[in-house]
Amino acid sequence: MRDIVLATNNQGKLDEARKILLPRGYNVLSLKDVGVINFNPEEIGETFLDNAVLKAKLLLQLIPNSCVFADDSGLEVEALEDRPGVRSARYCEGTDTDRCEKILEEMQGKENRKAAFVCSVAFYCKQVSFALSARCEGEIGTEMKGENGFGYDPIFVRNGKCFGEMTQQEKNKCSHRAGAMLQMANYLDDIVKKGLFLGSFERDVRQ
Ligand code: IMP
Repeated sequence: MRDIVLATNNQGKLDEARKILLPRGYNVLSLKDVGVINFNPEEIGETFLDNAVLKAKLLLQLIPNSCVFADDSGLEVEALEDRPGVRSARYCEGTDTDRCEKILEEMQGKENRKAAFVCSVAFYCKQVSFALSARCEGEIGTEMKGENGFGYDPIFVRNGKCFGEMTQQEKNKCSHRAGAMLQMANYLDDIVKKGLFLGSFERDVRQ
């Protein structure tokens, strides 16, 4: 089993990453597992990719003998010139519901309701690094629906069904994050094949 450390304090992201990467032979460690506390870098990048790279590089500085990865994600709405984009989590003050309502308000009267969730991932270790993005295309609904999920799930519709109404399993089949994790697993397999995957957290502890 190969260890990779995920640069997040979000348990949901850890669970999702583990679901996909563990069966492929990659053990996803949390910041807590590796003793990194107070990891809250400011997400000042202009793109999801910038922010993912920024977080992964910063974590690698703290645990330089490990393999680390970070992700950044959000919603892009075509008619709103791709807003909220990298500002998804802080598009307006208040709760996720407030942010969904703001988007619905801004979308009033717009014919083009196309939107996409985007997830970028950056992987870094001493020997090798890569970054990638995955998209999940859909549209903005006309009202909030469903009790499941988080963030903009209640207003994001994919193939006629709102993310807020999907089970975790249904969402994982098509989500941007699942897409990015699957791509990442493929890249990692390639790195392993080339003999470039040399890091594991144990090495850090022993040195
Ligand atoms: P981050 O990747 O934790 O920075 O996520 C940024 C924000 O994007 C979240 O706070 C949510 O508002 C939004 N977001 C990202 N992924 C999803 C998703 O799968 N469903 C709903 N909202 C999401």
